[in-house]
Amino acid sequence: MSQSVQAPRVLNIEDLRRAAKRRLPRVVFDYIDGGAEDEWTLRANSRAFEAVTLRPRCAVAVPSCDLRTVVLGASLPMPLILAPVGSSRLIHPRGEEAAAHAAGAAGIPYVLSTFSGCLLEDVAAASSAPLWYQLYLAGGRDCALPALDRAKAAGFSALVVTIDTAVAGMRERDFRNGVKELLGGKMRSMLPFVSQLLVKPRWLAGFFADGGLMKFPNIVVPGKGPMLYADVTAALEQSVVTWEDLEWIREAWTGPIVIKGIHTAEDARRAVDEGADALVVSNHGGRQLDRVAPSLQMLPEVVAAVGDRIEVLFDGGIRRGSDIIKALCLGARAVLVGRAYAYGLGAAGEAGVARAIEILRADLVRTLKLLGCASVGELARSYIDVPRDWLAK
Ligand SMILES: Cc1cc2nc3c(=O)[nH]c(=O)nc-3n(C[C@H](O)[C@H](O)[C@H](O)COP(=O)(O)O)c2cc1C
Repeated sequence: MSQSVQAPRVLNIEDLRRAAKRRLPRVVFDYIDGGAEDEWTLRANSRAFEAVTLRPRCAVAVPSCDLRTVVLGASLPMPLILAPVGSSRLIHPRGEEAAAHAAGAAGIPYVLSTFSGCLLEDVAAASSAPLWYQLYLAGGRDCALPALDRAKAAGFSALVVTIDTAVAGMRERDFRNGVKELLGGKMRSMLPFVSQLLVKPRWLAGFFADGGLMKFPNIVVPGKGPMLYADVTAALEQSVVTWEDLEWIREAWTGPIVIKGIHTAEDARRAVDEGADALVVSNHGGRQLDRVAPSLQMLPEVVAAVGDRIEVLFDGGIRRGSDIIKALCLGARAVLVGRAYAYGLGAAGEAGVARAIEILRADLVRTLKLLGCASVGELARSYIDVPRDWLAK
């Protein structure tokens, strides 16, 4: 399978996206690829990178590039982190373990979603690089507290609290593809939607061989057991994370806390005041509130407000190493990618994730050399041109 994602067939992340589209049923591909409502923010996230252009320093020899950076006290070989992607086990058998293993082989952090299909202990065993646990309060505090204890015991070093998911975004592709009906388990409602699964027999065989996953083993409802896929939407709506929750979360989790889903200077300051150790400027990859500005455009505002007090991380729309460079030039310490590796997972499992990481790494090195810059630590505003109104606030 690894051959199928090598050059010349796969040269970039868009190639992995196309390969994922070929292998996955529409309902699964669209779950990765889609966004909320008109998908305006989803598109804008990527387009924002087109508004920022590079300013190279030519006739500069850069024989080797230093990609290393430090995030939350850990030295990373490059400024890249795999973002939490819920239900990765639907995308590929044991998907979370596969992605963590690929991240571990590259020495980069993997963030495990609360909505993992794999046991967090098995994911922890798959990587020796830093692992972070992403928290949703699905099922409330009673479900979260034991999961945090387990994550700590398994060696997860940081907690990522996602704050942009008061309700699930309106992802219209999921409705049209019958996600609700397929998860509901009633044969008659499922029937109109099953043909999209039957036309992808390889995926279907893998799904059944992997146990036909329908549960989240890390969200254990007291007295009931692991939460079912079908119960998630309602559970999320009843358990919004608020700033007040950070108090008990901080007591339950002694390690570093990262707030994910910061969009404005105001929320960034609040995250600092609440004692967060890092934040992620993110709009959830355009999957939650449609029509918010692209996250790259909001990065300068957040960096100007809190960049000297907290580590600022970034995600949204990254498909090329040059996108990573632009985010670093605007003040991000490191970036997270979601779809870039999820497409790889869909295309070829662990080999596809490894290929996504390799593509971004090679892009980073080449782009730095072409920019005449020897290390990611030296990247600064002077290497880019930015639309003036982005910097006005
Ligand atoms: C299929 C999919 C599932 C996601 N699941 C989660 C999740 O469970 N928790 C979370 O905090 N973010 C989740 N996200 C958002 C990502 O962590 C990240 O913010 C986003 O993908 C970044 O944008 P990008 O896909 O353009 O890189 C998900 C994203 C995708 C594409």
